[in-house]
Amino acid sequence: MILDTDPGIDDAMAIAYACAHPELELLGLTTVFGNVSVKQATRNALAVLENFEQGQIPVAEGAAVPLVQKPFPHPYFVHGDDGMGNIDLADAKAPASKLSAAEFIVEQSLARPGEISLVAVGPLTNIAEALRLDPELPNRIKQLVVMGGTVDEPGNVSPVAEANFLGDPHAADEVFGADWPATIVGLDVTHKVMLFDSELEHLSRHSKIYGDLLYRSSRFYVNFYSTSGAAQGMAEPGCAMHDATAMVYLLRPELFTTVAGPVRVASDTTAAGQLIIKRQEGNYLLPYWDNYATSSVCMGVEADAVKADFFDTLTPG
Ligand code: BDR
Ligand code: CA
Repeated sequence: MILDTDPGIDDAMAIAYACAHPELELLGLTTVFGNVSVKQATRNALAVLENFEQGQIPVAEGAAVPLVQKPFPHPYFVHGDDGMGNIDLADAKAPASKLSAAEFIVEQSLARPGEISLVAVGPLTNIAEALRLDPELPNRIKQLVVMGGTVDEPGNVSPVAEANFLGDPHAADEVFGADWPATIVGLDVTHKVMLFDSELEHLSRHSKIYGDLLYRSSRFYVNFYSTSGAAQGMAEPGCAMHDATAMVYLLRPELFTTVAGPVRVASDTTAAGQLIIKRQEGNYLLPYWDNYATSSVCMGVEADAVKADFFDTLTPG
């Protein structure tokens, strides 16, 4: 698999799962702007991999800005100034790949046609750029799993929009216009997969490789969730496990229920970033979903089983 990411505190959780799972071979990380600048995302990706004793895995840097719209400011109040919860992570020794993210994705897909799963947990700019570079890409990718968007659950950056899709709505719309087996793991499910502080603390004590970094970086994130009201109703402080939930979907899709249909992502004014799936057969007055490929969107989740799979993967034995 290849993980396209903007690390990002919950991105680091997804990276940990990708490194730890015995059934996954992580071919590389590709980085994108989002939670931080793309330069910082690359620095974080390299440092996180080295910390997880996987410094040999390549990191290819991708897009610095969205395809069309002006970039929004990075959400430093969610992930910290450094994107990793201000934990002074040392720079890694390894440099980034000479390939761009889009080049890396296309090159890997050519080397292993039909084998690679692509998981994207940041704005979809790199995936759209890879598609532009090679429109045949979807025929060589086993499946695309995307953390982003929301259907019924309120958005986290507007009443209808989730952060990754608002980050580059034009890219998202282009990506779901292509015909690949694509699944969206959005807020409809990730807002149900809430990690408790006591669980993160347990992880810090029982996961030698992943526990320390994930616990220390999550302090800032948990504080954001507690003080912003985003964790309302939780029995104890905690945070949403957005990006790692997309990773769990990859291996345990039976823990999710989905709806299928053509997907569009709006890019205008009040609707910017909104994911709109046509769930019913038949024709509407507006033709915008006609002749669009079918994507799946996760709507239900066995949250406790997803969390158990995440923690078990990071603390084997
Ligand atoms: C998404 O936005 C980022 O803040 C997270 O890393 C996640 O990918 C959640 O909306
Ligand atoms: Ca992310």
